[in-house]
Amino acid sequence: MTIHSILRMGDPRLLESASLVDPALITTSQVQALIDDLLETMYSVNGAGLAAPQIGINQQVVVFGFEKNLRYPLAESIPETILINPIITPLNDLQEEDWEGCLSVPGIRAKVPRFTQIRYQGLDRFGQRIDRTVEDFHARVVQHECDHLIGKLFPMRVKDFTHFGFTDILFPELSATPPAE
Ligand code: NI
Repeated sequence: MTIHSILRMGDPRLLESASLVDPALITTSQVQALIDDLLETMYSVNGAGLAAPQIGINQQVVVFGFEKNLRYPLAESIPETILINPIITPLNDLQEEDWEGCLSVPGIRAKVPRFTQIRYQGLDRFGQRIDRTVEDFHARVVQHECDHLIGKLFPMRVKDFTHFGFTDILFPELSATPPAE
């Protein structure tokens, strides 16, 4: 397993649409190694989630989940999830703005509107179907990670730039906890 460096906003690879993974290839060592690398890289920087394009792999694989997250201390826990070829369906029109950051946009936070209740489907690392209905922060994280698969970074979703700024100014208490973005 390898901890990868994470591409930062401005890198054109973050703007591409990722390719579907052939379900027959999920259990190959190549895809399994990608999944392990994503998990290890995410945990090494206390991320809530990470998408394959962020380590320069243009495939539809995201990982997310945590028990307790230093970057989002108030967030409810999310089970560790490997999600391949995801499809998101909002359950209604309700959206809410809340704070987000991104490992590819270090040091910045903004309030981003997201659907509050969604269904998401896809495949796990064994090629088994995932089909979940979730809300709030879990729904937010899934939408954020899946946005990476269509070349969207959270600043591109911001509507109100009065809630956009540097993490250490907005949340000085977070900068005391390593890694201080
Ligand atoms: Ni991100």
